[in-house]
Amino acid sequence: MSESITSMLQENRIFEPSEHFQSHIGPIYVPDLKTYHDMYRRSIDDPAGFWGDIAKDFHWYRPWKRVVDWNVPDAKWFVDGTTNVCANCVDRQVKNGHGDELAILWEGEPCSPDPEVRRLTYRDLLREVSQTANALKSMGVQRGDVVTIYMGMVPELAIAMLACARIGAPHSVIFGGFASPAIVDRVQDAKSKIIITCDGAWRRGQIVSLKKNVDDACEKLPDVQNVLVVRRTNSPVTMHTGRDQWWHELVSNQSSECPCEEMDSEDLLFLLYTSGSTGKPKGICHTTGGYMIYTAHTARMTFNLVPQRNQVFFCTADIGWITGHSYIVYGMLPNRVPTVMYEGAPNFPAEDRFWSMVARHKVTHFYTAPTAIRAFMKWGDEQPRKHDLSSLLLLGTVGEPINPEAWIWYHQNIGQSRCPIVDTMWQTETGGHIITPLPGCTPTVPGSCTLPAFGIDAAIVNENGEELPANQGGLLVIRRPWPGMLRGIHGDRARFIETYWTKVPGMYIAGDGARRDERGYFWIMGRIDDVINVSGHRLGTMEVESALVSHPAIVEAAVVGIPHEIKGTGIAAFVTLAPQFKGPADDSLRKQLMEHVTKEIGAIARPDMIRFTTLLPKTRSGKIMRRLLRDIAAGKESTQDTTTLEDFNALAKLRENEE
Ligand code: PRX
Repeated sequence: MSESITSMLQENRIFEPSEHFQSHIGPIYVPDLKTYHDMYRRSIDDPAGFWGDIAKDFHWYRPWKRVVDWNVPDAKWFVDGTTNVCANCVDRQVKNGHGDELAILWEGEPCSPDPEVRRLTYRDLLREVSQTANALKSMGVQRGDVVTIYMGMVPELAIAMLACARIGAPHSVIFGGFASPAIVDRVQDAKSKIIITCDGAWRRGQIVSLKKNVDDACEKLPDVQNVLVVRRTNSPVTMHTGRDQWWHELVSNQSSECPCEEMDSEDLLFLLYTSGSTGKPKGICHTTGGYMIYTAHTARMTFNLVPQRNQVFFCTADIGWITGHSYIVYGMLPNRVPTVMYEGAPNFPAEDRFWSMVARHKVTHFYTAPTAIRAFMKWGDEQPRKHDLSSLLLLGTVGEPINPEAWIWYHQNIGQSRCPIVDTMWQTETGGHIITPLPGCTPTVPGSCTLPAFGIDAAIVNENGEELPANQGGLLVIRRPWPGMLRGIHGDRARFIETYWTKVPGMYIAGDGARRDERGYFWIMGRIDDVINVSGHRLGTMEVESALVSHPAIVEAAVVGIPHEIKGTGIAAFVTLAPQFKGPADDSLRKQLMEHVTKEIGAIARPDMIRFTTLLPKTRSGKIMRRLLRDIAAGKESTQDTTTLEDFNALAKLRENEE
């Protein structure tokens, strides 16, 4: 058991919802635990009644016939109902007289000396989204066509997503930190013919050349017919005649009238690629009605969002990840609480950037990842102290288990001991939160994501699906469908069934080990597959291994996670050299390999440590002994029985190579 889990087991500090929160947030939707348990019971026993009541507050062209059809592993929500997500995010607000309210507050990274800020109301959004939707149509995009979006965090990114939703073209957003081979894989898998990008993106004062990455990718993507380019950095780019168009030239000439497509509740809203245990990322499918209702409802409950109470919600994620999809865009706009979009790095121009933003924009809700909190800790208590953080009412975390030290620091230094912290557990696949405290009622314990969200029948089971007693570690599963659940992996039905539905038949398996304590609180212990969580970003060890072996000096690679002070988990790679490689296995080769992985996948996958070896330790059946490698990488003496090693020398050789 890792040290962090041991410290969690001893964690017994309890934090009750603060009076300050209760008296300042506005009406509290779930004011006490009894109400939570009653609502939770109903959401499980009568999902049709529970979700039907929530969905009634949205705009539907045609009402659903049944709330849910469930035939493991296929769920349909709001069956036969038709709606449009963009209409619910944008048009509905304008129609109901809220057109002049702030929808998106964007801040750019450069400060010269003040940062650029753009404020988009719902009316502005309606105009810009409609024009963009018409621009997409003018390029031949039709309902059902997948539009790839590879952009920095500029307002046009949210506008492009909403424009796609408006015309029924599913989007596939690729995180702007990925390198061009990652674009190639995703565009090919999605069979996408159009890419929306930017000339460049600002990141820590430097320009990331997004358009150049798209150009490189397009050399391998003959089917891409259109590239739409937002001008952001004014950096020089090559525009390919017949393929590339500037956003500002094409979009501003379009009509601002564009009707919303009437979509079936189960039509695809978007694909989002995420890592799994094979080398190939999988395109997670989210559909229209269920995702819309689930993200809006979880956002409302977890963050107790109340319109017109001067709430301002700042989620620091990039929209290239599910957190940004659900809690910067789709879950926020229907709730009419302004959502902050920030373009750049948290430490540019200085390490107090977020706190300066909180003070200037009077942010009430701040949502970030434990890895960021650990960086804030390192940057020092004086950074938040420079600013007035009194507007903050609620803090959130997401992406990985939070170590209690970071939780307490966040609570004291950012929350000033008055803001509840919601530790929200969820995944790309779940669409929205699945286990989380509710800020008005759930007592929190640092390191625990506490109780299941409404409609989530979460349990800890063994491989036979039997529920385990309190505090026994097991598999985290969900036993019933929920509206935000993934509907499949794009183009790979077999992988969908194999990954999520076969290990414990009939139940959704999250891929995390966890336990539940005597209070019923969940504690996530970490992934049980070959996925590692680096800085809250999910990476397949196989993806990094494939990138390493694509280098001519390497024949075999094994990648494992190692504890890392800031990232939570860092990347350790064990590599064997190709016989034809004659150079020395030294630091210069290490550096080359690190650069190579950055070029193949992106900086997030850059190994923290590379070890050369002539052999990798394997079992008799040929499986790499990852646990042994993890111990060696972490510098621990292995307590494992090593008699199954195919080559007993392997361990000794690895040890010899220790730096
Ligand atoms: O291992 C869990 C961890 O992140 C995984 C999901 O990663 P991804 O699909 O990229 O989505 C991240 C953002 C929703 C999970 O399987 N994880 C996420 N949130 C938490 C967490 N682990 C512990 N506590 C959390 N709050």
